[in-house]
Amino acid sequence: MTTAKSLDALIEKRSLAKLGGGQAKIDKIHDKGRHTARERIEMLLDEGSFEEFDMFKVHRCTNFGMEKKKFMGDGIVTGSGTIQGRLVYVHAGDFTVFGGSLSETMSEKICKVMDMAVKSGAPVIGLNDSGGARIQEGIESLSGYTNIFYRNVRASGVIPQLSGIFGPCAGGAVYSPALTDFTVMVRDSSYMFLTGPKVVKSVTHEDVDVETLGGASVHTTKSGVAHLAADDGEQGIKYLQDLFSYMPQNNMEKPPVKETDDPSDRVNSALDTLIPDNPNMAYDIKDVIYEVVDDQEFLEIQPDYAGNIVIGFARFGGQSVGIIANQPKVLAGVLDNDSSIKAARFVRCCDCFNIPLVTFVDVPGFMPGTVQEYGGIIRNGAKLMFAYAEATVPKITITTRKSYGGAHCVMSAKQLDGDLNYAWPTAEIAVMGGKGAIEILNARDVKGKEPEEAKAIMAKAEAEYNEAFANPYVAAGRGYVDDVIAPSETRLRIVRGLRALQDKHVSALPKKHGNIPL
Ligand code: HXC
Repeated sequence: MTTAKSLDALIEKRSLAKLGGGQAKIDKIHDKGRHTARERIEMLLDEGSFEEFDMFKVHRCTNFGMEKKKFMGDGIVTGSGTIQGRLVYVHAGDFTVFGGSLSETMSEKICKVMDMAVKSGAPVIGLNDSGGARIQEGIESLSGYTNIFYRNVRASGVIPQLSGIFGPCAGGAVYSPALTDFTVMVRDSSYMFLTGPKVVKSVTHEDVDVETLGGASVHTTKSGVAHLAADDGEQGIKYLQDLFSYMPQNNMEKPPVKETDDPSDRVNSALDTLIPDNPNMAYDIKDVIYEVVDDQEFLEIQPDYAGNIVIGFARFGGQSVGIIANQPKVLAGVLDNDSSIKAARFVRCCDCFNIPLVTFVDVPGFMPGTVQEYGGIIRNGAKLMFAYAEATVPKITITTRKSYGGAHCVMSAKQLDGDLNYAWPTAEIAVMGGKGAIEILNARDVKGKEPEEAKAIMAKAEAEYNEAFANPYVAAGRGYVDDVIAPSETRLRIVRGLRALQDKHVSALPKKHGNIPL
């Protein structure tokens, strides 16, 4: 029989467990302007929805006198809850217990929620704050990490997995986030690295601080490891909620539909005059995106990394889409190594979670030169080609201006099983730009000519080339473009297209998996 005494004992144990490593450690976290694991979970989930598991679980380590240092729950808080009424599983590193370093029992707690998430077809969100492998546990900790990594990989493409980095994320702690779909970091208070500054110094003699080694700005501008940098913990949580809102519960479902009052047939008059007369002048592709999507809501992902391609989530008629767009404002929208990889991963993420792809094309080609070739532009461009060709979700493509050469083929071309390929009247779909083409075709015509005469011959040839090829009608005349549309009707055509394609089904050829050129 439950007695008042036993209930009191339970209440007491629970409140002790909730203190993790103790009030002094909690105070220290607050002094740094950061949140505890429980506070983060509270911010993330719908009020009162958190169901905690394994609150009383303790580590089993006896090395280094550890048997005398036990804290209920160990260094992780785990359980389930809801976000906007949708089920989600969570694990949040508790820095108050041995700096959130991973023990064998913590791994068991994380694996338990990951297994439950897969069984019930619900996403997992990890809120990371950890010093890496718990040094006292040695190999048990490494084994614990590997058990988590294995589950990250097994669950990849089955349930959405999101990671927030809210403090240190060192050593083994980095690989689980790296295996998930999206990673959000917090500026100035989170960092990710395999080896900390001291080890760096001893191995390479390099002096570096944590921020320069693996801060949010490094990983969202240079390495591409993280996808969004938040200004503080609250914004970090908000980014995770936003990402979650665009994704389905699992790969067998479609993303939730968000009601909108934004009319499907809203005319985008501003777009009719957006493209400059001079084809070498830039414009901002984000002006197009914000103009056509529902309610001007666009969650740009990796905004500060490889800015020559823009990726992110938006909705049309309430339905989630992934947007991929060349950005003429940065490097003229050229495709290079980083932008190819950035877009390829996003295309695959959308495809595995049934999120249609809307692609805006204005691309002068692939970036030439040794830097790109040595960096593997052939292999990396092939990644993007592979990702688009492999994607079976609805694919709608709008060519706003340039679509040249190999980059034309890569950017969701009709021949990669593009469903609806539209072009604005300003589109130039050809094997290369006029200037480059006539330099090859007309070199013989100007040999030995005076410079003025040569210039005139070239200018005439370029004008003829542009007239004949720098337009959408050659491609439309062959059916490679389904229609040439007025920019002002872009939103309507996309919404209609998505509706028409909502039951699209493609049977894949039987195979274990493809061999994407990693
Ligand atoms: C055990 C750890 C720990 C760890 C921190 N602590 N990291 N305990 N194992 N890995 C403990 C500290 O001893 C301290 O305990 C408490 O957590 C808080 O740590 P502080 O150092 O006081 O905090 P702070 O100054 O904020 O520094 C945080 C930190 C630093 C940057 C994370 O602790 C650190 O550098 N830790 C080691 C990071 C690291 O090299 N990890 C890699 C491990 S090897 P007390 O009792 O004093 O409060 C690894 C390889 C796995 O992960 C590979 C798998 C694939």
